[in-house]
Amino acid sequence: MVIDEHTTPFWLAGNFAPVHAERSDATLRVTGEIPKELSGLYVRNGANPPSGKSMDWFLGCGMLHGVDISDGEPRWYRNRYVRTALLDEEMPSAESRRVLQNSLANTHVIGHAGKILALAEMNLPIEVTRELETVGPYDFGGALNGNMTAHPKVCPMTGELLFFGYSVQPPFLKYYRVSADGQLIQQEEIAVKGPTMMHDFCITGSKVVFMDLPVVFDMAERARGGLGIRHDDVYGARFGVMPRDGVSDDVTWFEIEPCYVYHTLNAYDDGDEVVIEGCRMVGYMAKGMVKPPIPQLYQWRLNLKTGAVTQTQIDDIGIDFPKVPDALVGQQHRFGYFAQFGQAAPTVEGYHKFDLQTGARQSHMLAKGCTGSEASFVPAHNAAGEDDGYLLSYIYDAQEDASHLAILDAANLSDDPIAKIHLPARVPAGFHGSWIAH
Ligand SMILES: [Fe+2]
Repeated sequence: MVIDEHTTPFWLAGNFAPVHAERSDATLRVTGEIPKELSGLYVRNGANPPSGKSMDWFLGCGMLHGVDISDGEPRWYRNRYVRTALLDEEMPSAESRRVLQNSLANTHVIGHAGKILALAEMNLPIEVTRELETVGPYDFGGALNGNMTAHPKVCPMTGELLFFGYSVQPPFLKYYRVSADGQLIQQEEIAVKGPTMMHDFCITGSKVVFMDLPVVFDMAERARGGLGIRHDDVYGARFGVMPRDGVSDDVTWFEIEPCYVYHTLNAYDDGDEVVIEGCRMVGYMAKGMVKPPIPQLYQWRLNLKTGAVTQTQIDDIGIDFPKVPDALVGQQHRFGYFAQFGQAAPTVEGYHKFDLQTGARQSHMLAKGCTGSEASFVPAHNAAGEDDGYLLSYIYDAQEDASHLAILDAANLSDDPIAKIHLPARVPAGFHGSWIAH
């Protein structure tokens, strides 16, 4: 691939471009005042091709950017590659990327049962330390021999880690349940119609929900030189609801209007109904698609007694990177936090908070020349309400060619940031991150 400065794709230009130095900086300048109650590691993943070349935004090796905070004081900023054999290839080949231990590990990073795992959806998790150094592929003591989604869910009630892995070959979908202490205690094959590209799923207090949607892998098309992923107009679309300890035969499928959902906001049980909220796109990967459709927030209610499905558009603004507080994953919630993307490229231009009870929206739009990143919610100590807490996100200021970690007041999202932790290097736009409390 020749990178031409006039035709540089968005993921190699501006603040999407990779950085090349791995840094450790202990002295960080702060504007404003970091709340004393903040103690933890904010860490975010993203694609950062070391060669500066990549065929797609999703195909660069993962780099973690972390800020560690203790009692309101920033202790350090570090950025580290997630080290697998793929780092040695200029542009990791499809064959190398398929090796289970060879993850790009660029999509998400989560904490569970004392481990920190960097994730991409085609491979094993890669374990890293709290200082962001790579330990290596993690297979739950040999129990996991398939790939893991980048969007597992940790149940705040039981501490379980629930996830799935999809495949382009049968079995197309597997489901896994890990106990609060990190033991893989269940794995099931789940029957779906075909090789659906399932990026995310959701949990409720008692169930898991699979999204069997019409964006599918087509290896024959890839063999002919195509992308290998396409919208299938006759595949249909459905959500599958299964008890958490269930098997494939226990799944209740609900047909929905065809769409694609990369990211769900949340799901929860509500009497006979399962409520699902997600960023819905229509026509994604359809023939002739020039630009991906803009996702909008929708709610589906699936009635387990009657089989009825209702679908409601919550807001018409284009959003993605949805988040609820970790303590409300799978639980009924009132607020959802999102990023707004630009028209020309997936640059984060600001943040929105939707009140699902009243329909109100609060926004925090970034100044001209500033672009953000996914935000993580951190609850206040002894929080007085669901939105009593902070949103943390990396923001890049093109005028200063510098990045900072912004701390926003989630209850008053439109206000100026409570604090900015100024960073010694640019943090490129990336994917998902987590707050891992001390
Ligand atoms: Fe994602």
